[in-house]
Amino acid sequence: MRKIIIAGNWKMNMLFTEVEDFLFELSDNLEEKNLNSVEVVICPPSVYLELSSDIADDSKFFIGAQNVNDNSNGAYTGEISAAMLDSMDIPYCIIGHSERRKYYAESDEVINAKLKKLHENEIVPIFCIGETLTQREQNITKDIILSQLNGGLKDVKIEDNVIIAYEPVWAIGTGKTATPAQAQEIHALIREWLEENYSKDVSGNTPILYGGSMNPENVKELLIQPDIDGGLIGGAALDVSKFSSMVATAVEL
Ligand code: PGA
Repeated sequence: MRKIIIAGNWKMNMLFTEVEDFLFELSDNLEEKNLNSVEVVICPPSVYLELSSDIADDSKFFIGAQNVNDNSNGAYTGEISAAMLDSMDIPYCIIGHSERRKYYAESDEVINAKLKKLHENEIVPIFCIGETLTQREQNITKDIILSQLNGGLKDVKIEDNVIIAYEPVWAIGTGKTATPAQAQEIHALIREWLEENYSKDVSGNTPILYGGSMNPENVKELLIQPDIDGGLIGGAALDVSKFSSMVATAVEL
C-alpha cells in the first residue's frame, strides 16, 4: 500500500522568522494526527535546511531540499552537493522542476546526473516532469512525459526509491488545476511506463504525486484518483493553515 505524500515546495519564499513560525505551527498541528499512511515533507530554501531539519527532528514531518548539483564536489560556487545533504540527514530532494528546466536550462541529462548523485547518497529524489501549455495544445503531452521519463530515469535503479511528480507546467502557480481526469490519465501512463520498464512491483510501489495549483478545495478530488499518491504543493504550502488542512484531508482518506 502506497503512502500519501503531501510535500510543500516553498521555492524562493519565506524569511527566517517566518520559517520558524510556520514549522512550529505545523508541528503543533501534526502532533495529534495519525500519520501512519501519510508522509509530510517541507522543502525550504537551502539556507533554512539546518533550522528546518532541527525542528523536524522533534516533529512528524520530513525535510527535502529544492535542488542539488550534478557533480560530487569541487569548484562550483554557490552549489550544494548530494553528499552535503546526506551529511545533514536530509531525506528528500526535488529535481527536474519546470522552473529549473526553464530558468536554468536544465536538461534531462543533467537531471539524470543529479538523480544518480542523490541515489549514491541515499536521498530520495522527487523527480518532476510535465508538459507546457503549447505541448498540451499540440497534443504531444504523452510524448513529452515519456521522453522526460526515459531521459531523467536513464540507467536509474528505481528500486532505490524515486518519487515522481507530474506537474503540468500550465497549472503551476496559475490557479489553473488539471482536472482529476486529466491528471489521472497521465498518472496512469506513468505507472504503465514503470511496469513496462521495471516491474509490476516497482510500478505499484512508486509514489506519483500531482503538482500544479493544488489547494484545500481541490486536494480531495485529486487524491481520490487511483494513481495519484499525493501532492507537490507550491503556493498553498506557504500558508500553514492551508497546508495543514491539506494534510488533514489526506489523513481522512
Ligand atoms: P503551485 O506550485 O502549487 O504554486 O502551482 C507547484 C510546484 O511548482 O511544485
